[in-house]
Amino acid sequence: MTDKKNKLRSQAWFGKPDKDGFLHRSWTKAAGHPHDQFDGRPVIGICNTFSDLTSCNSHFRTIVEYVKRGVYEAGGFPLEFPVMSLGEAQLRPTAMLFRNLASMDVEESIRGNPIDGVVLLMGCDKTTPALMMGAASCNLPTIGISGGPMLNGKFRGQDIGSGTGVWMMSEMVRAGTMSQEEFTEAESCMNRSHGHCMTMGTASTMASMVEALGMSLPENAAIPAVDGRRNRLAQFSGRRIVQMVKDNLTMDKIMTRHAFENAIKVNAAIGGSTNAVVHLLAMAGRIGVPLTLKDWDDLASELPCLLNLQPSGKYLMEDFYYAGGLPALMKEIAHELHTDALTVNGKTLGENIKDAPCYNRDVITAYEQPFKPAAGIAVLKGNLAPDGAVIKPSASSPHLLKHRGRAVVFEDTEDFRARIDDDNLDVDENCIMVLKNCGPVGYPGMAEVGNMALPKKVLKKGITDMVRISDARMSGTAYGTVVLHVSPEASIGGPLALVQNGDMIELDVPARRLHLDVSDAELATRKLNWKAPEKPERGYVKLYVEHVQQAHLGADLDFLVGASGADVPRESH
Ligand code: FES
Repeated sequence: MTDKKNKLRSQAWFGKPDKDGFLHRSWTKAAGHPHDQFDGRPVIGICNTFSDLTSCNSHFRTIVEYVKRGVYEAGGFPLEFPVMSLGEAQLRPTAMLFRNLASMDVEESIRGNPIDGVVLLMGCDKTTPALMMGAASCNLPTIGISGGPMLNGKFRGQDIGSGTGVWMMSEMVRAGTMSQEEFTEAESCMNRSHGHCMTMGTASTMASMVEALGMSLPENAAIPAVDGRRNRLAQFSGRRIVQMVKDNLTMDKIMTRHAFENAIKVNAAIGGSTNAVVHLLAMAGRIGVPLTLKDWDDLASELPCLLNLQPSGKYLMEDFYYAGGLPALMKEIAHELHTDALTVNGKTLGENIKDAPCYNRDVITAYEQPFKPAAGIAVLKGNLAPDGAVIKPSASSPHLLKHRGRAVVFEDTEDFRARIDDDNLDVDENCIMVLKNCGPVGYPGMAEVGNMALPKKVLKKGITDMVRISDARMSGTAYGTVVLHVSPEASIGGPLALVQNGDMIELDVPARRLHLDVSDAELATRKLNWKAPEKPERGYVKLYVEHVQQAHLGADLDFLVGASGADVPRESH
C-alpha cells in the first residue's frame, strides 16, 4: 500500500485493522467482494437514479454495468448506490419540489459512505441538478454521465419531439384540427425508446450544461440513450474517475466561475431551457462560485442560437449527435468561451473541441450565419418583478416582445383550468394572461405551468401565442412569449400578488422592462388588503416552504447553500 493510497478517504473505513475495519469490510464482503478490493484502491460510488417511475432513466441498470467495467479495468472498486429518483412525467405536485430533497440524499449518501470518487448517472430533468448539487456539496472527484436522449419521435411520417409535440397537438385537439384518436395514437409514437426527452428541453439542456461545465467526457450530452456509444462513454467514464481520484481532481477545480460562464454561453447557443437558470444558480451556490441572475443577461443574452432544434427549431437531439454534437457547437463559439477551463478528462475545453467536426450545417449553424441572432435568456426587471424575471426570446413571437396589454388574472392553476375555456372569459389575443401562486413557496415547488394554454376562443381565430406572465417555470420543451420566474413570487406578497383584472402591463424585452401600470399608492392599498395563503403544516413540504429561496437565487434551501465537504470524523459504532 503506497502513502498516496493511504490518503484515500475510504481507508478511514476499509483500511483499519480493528473492529471498525472488520465491520466495514465484513458486511461489504457479504456481496462476494474479495479481500484485495479493500487494499487502498479507489472506491468509486456510482450514484444511480434508476427507477421504474422515472422512465427516462430506465436503462441505467445497463449503463451502470459499463461504468463498473471501466472502474475495474482501471483498478478501482465500484459500489453502486441508489438515490431518490425524480420522474418529471409522474411526480406531483412537481418534480422540482423534490430537487433539493434529492440533492440532500445524494450529499449525505456520498459523505456518509466510504467513497473516494463519484459517478453521477443523470437523465430526467431534475435528476441532473439534484445530483450535481448534492455532489458539489461534498466536492469529491466526480464525473457525470447522462442517460442520453430518446430516439426521434415518429408519427405518421413526421418527426415529433417529446413535450413540444404534446403542447402543440393538445392545442390542435382543442382547436378542433386533430382528432382524439390521432392524439392517443401519437402517445406511442412520440416516446419510443429509452432515454430522456429528445427536444432541447430541460434534460437535454442540463446534459449540455454538464458537458459545457467540463463535468463529463466530450459528447456526453447528445449520444442517444440506445446508441452503443453511450455505453462506451460510460465505460470510459468509469476508467477515468479512478484516475481523477488518484489526481485528486475535485469538482471545485472544474466548476469554476469561468466554467459557469461557459455554460451560460453554451445555453444561449443551444437555445437551452430557462430552467437552466435556477439550476445553475443553485449549483454555483453549492460549489461556492458567485453567480447572479444578471450574469445570464450580461454574458449571453446577445449571443446567437446556433442549434436548429425543437422547441425553437426543427430537429431533435438524435440529429444533433449525428451533426457533431456539443463539441462541434462549442467549437463554433470557441472565441466566446474560456477555452482554458479544465475538464474531467484532464484536458482543457479548448483541447477537447479544437478538432470537433460538424457534419450538418442545417442542424448546427455557423456563428456567422446563426439559426437565431441574440437568443440568450433575457432578464427583465420592473415594478412587477423587482428581483427579476426571465424570458426566452428565441422561443417567443417577435411581435410580442414589446407589448402593452390588459391583464387577465388567474389566482392559481385551479382558477386557470376552471375558466380558461369559458366563453364568458373577457379575453382576446392582445391581453396579457397572469398566473399567480405558482412560485417556489406558492405551488409549492415552482411547477412548469407558466406556459398557460391559450383560451379556446383565441385559438379558434388561428392565434398561436399571447404574452403570459407568472412566478412559475416552463418546461424546456415549451415555447411562446412567456415571462417566468417573477421574483418575489405572489405567495410571499410580491407585486405579482397585487395585479388585478384590467390592469395594464407593459412588456419591453429590448429594454428588459416588466411594468405594472398602477400607481404606487394604489399598490400600497392593495398590499394592505392582501392575505398570505396558508402554508403546509408537516413533512418535507413544511421544511421546503420555510427555507426555499426565491427563483432569482436558484430556489435552493437556504441552509444548503455553501458546501460542507466530505469529512465525517465520527465512527458509526
Ligand atoms: Fe424525463 Fe422529459 S420527462 S426528460
